[in-house]
Amino acid sequence: MIAQADAIIIAAGAGMGVDSGLPDFRGNAGFWNAYPALAKAQINFTDIANPRAFHQHPELAWGFYGHRLDLYRKTVPHSGFGILKNWAKGKKASWIFTSNVDGQFQKAGFDPEQIHECHGSIHHLQCCEDCVGDVWSADAFQPEVDTEQCKLVNSPPICPICGLIARPNILMFGDWNWQHEREHEQRQREVKRLEKVIHNLWNVVVIEIGAGTAIPSVRHFSEETSRKYGARIIRINPREFDVPSKLDVGIPMGSLEALLAIDDALNARPQEIDPNFMGIA
Ligand SMILES: NC(=O)c1ccc[n+]([C@@H]2O[C@H](COP(=O)([O-])OP(=O)(O)OC[C@H]3O[C@@H](n4cnc5c(N)ncnc54)[C@H](O)[C@@H]3O)[C@@H](O)[C@H]2O)c1
Ligand SMILES: [Zn+2]
Repeated sequence: MIAQADAIIIAAGAGMGVDSGLPDFRGNAGFWNAYPALAKAQINFTDIANPRAFHQHPELAWGFYGHRLDLYRKTVPHSGFGILKNWAKGKKASWIFTSNVDGQFQKAGFDPEQIHECHGSIHHLQCCEDCVGDVWSADAFQPEVDTEQCKLVNSPPICPICGLIARPNILMFGDWNWQHEREHEQRQREVKRLEKVIHNLWNVVVIEIGAGTAIPSVRHFSEETSRKYGARIIRINPREFDVPSKLDVGIPMGSLEALLAIDDALNARPQEIDPNFMGIA
């Protein structure tokens, strides 16, 4: 499927980062395992990934996001990213759709103009009240976090316009103030790219990696792309690998292991071709 595709679309969830050493938040158990201080306080993902938390417990909310910002900055993307980049390079078109906010595709060298971060990015900030609709880089903010208590110990970033606390430009739960212009522009570029694929009748494959079922944004994207553009899905996930149709393929493996194995199989292909084949064709 990958060898025959004209266009590759990569759709990635948190499982893509697990092999780089990043936690996923699969269920309360997964989330609390990554943030034991929040487990102790019985605060779950929906409570902390919530704009209200920045008003009610700013040091805790920034403890959680500051720790993640620091972690994602330090993380080196695993070699599966490079494999995907290589596959995409040989195609007529490629695109990345991800609900990950960690910026790992950009860090791995993918073109930022060809990425749709549907839930935003932790590397960007906005005002808690979205006072004038600005989004700015988080690069100047260096969080210092007491990880045992999951609390920010230095000053949180503030909005340069109104002076209120700033927060990551990430779509949270019950979030009416998310500044979505950046995401909206990415989505418009995505529509253009997919229209080009349709216009040229290109053969598309969606490689979906590590996307969970609790917040199924990435799965919806893969399945919608499959319905709309006739794309086939390759779903890589060690646990949740069921696929919507018999034309699709579910691979019950971790991202890195699966990508390495597929890459080996692709590289082995030329030697497998019968030398007489060319004559018969
Ligand atoms: N890195 C990030 O940016 C990050 C991390 C966690 C959660 N989130 C946010 O939380 C929400 C959760 O969504 P989600 O579905 O991406 O995450 P999730 O934590 O709900 O699910 C992760 C999925 O990855 C699979 N997985 C686990 N290990 C894997 C591996 N080694 N290789 C491949 N797959 C593996 C799991 O079986 C599961 O289906 C999203 O809104 C997202 O924005 C983001
Ligand atoms: Zn403001």
